[in-house]
Amino acid sequence: MTEHRAERKKTTIPDLQKMKVEGRKIVMVTSYDFPSSQIADQVGVDSILVGDSYGMVVLGYETTIPVTMDELLPVCRAVNRGSSRPLLVGDMPFLSFQVSQEDAIRNAGRFIKEGGMEAVKIEGGKEMALIARSIVDSGIPVLGHIGVTPQTATLHGGYRVQGRTAKEGERLIANARALEEAGAFGIVLEMVTEEVAGRITGALEIPTIGIGSGRYCDGQVLVLNDVLGLYSRFTPKFAKRYVDLSQMIQRALQEYSGEVRSGQFPSMNNVFSMDPAEVSKLGPRRKG
Ligand code: KIV
Repeated sequence: MTEHRAERKKTTIPDLQKMKVEGRKIVMVTSYDFPSSQIADQVGVDSILVGDSYGMVVLGYETTIPVTMDELLPVCRAVNRGSSRPLLVGDMPFLSFQVSQEDAIRNAGRFIKEGGMEAVKIEGGKEMALIARSIVDSGIPVLGHIGVTPQTATLHGGYRVQGRTAKEGERLIANARALEEAGAFGIVLEMVTEEVAGRITGALEIPTIGIGSGRYCDGQVLVLNDVLGLYSRFTPKFAKRYVDLSQMIQRALQEYSGEVRSGQFPSMNNVFSMDPAEVSKLGPRRKG
């Protein structure tokens, strides 16, 4: 592992660009803590997103709406401490960038200065192009996010697949172009039909990273807890569960509980002992 690590270097935005040009798929995953970001780094994912999905899959909120900057920043710091190679992207929470350009720059800056992130993600298309431009102009790389945008899902009719009609497809392509023109270095496409996602990918110079948007994107992102089977409320159709950690954790905790109750744990392997000469000085052991 050490040897492998030594060979790898930090993933940069030009690296992602090069991957698109060379047709090498970009791997992005969310992470919300030190250990999982360490593992993501060790296996060589290209980029880690500290997603506002943290609010749902870790904090148990029903949606991503309540997540705050103050909740996400310590998470970003933990992810930063755990990983050195993947490009780190912080997800700007609802109302941390929509109110004004000044606010957007200030909060994006907090992700970089206080959270140790290297880029930020913002949800929204054309309507967010000016905000994206001002963040980029302040020196902070921006990843766009169109299609289903969970922060404004209510306004757009819920979690509805985007791009089912040619008209919707044209609108999505225009949104993607607006973000590219605003200086975004890439765009997340969430729950976009794969035909439209393919058109957007072909139309843009910058990479597209799909989640539920099919096979023709330049890369893929998944929520870590979906990959690991650690979110039981629902699993979206587009997510793939590679392991059922909930079940494994359940089994481990059942075994632990059983061993504590039966006295099997702790065993001799898990205890610290005194020098026998010292034990005799303690006096008799009381019962119970
Ligand atoms: O918050 C998140 O995890 C995301 C991904 C779904 C792209 O925005």
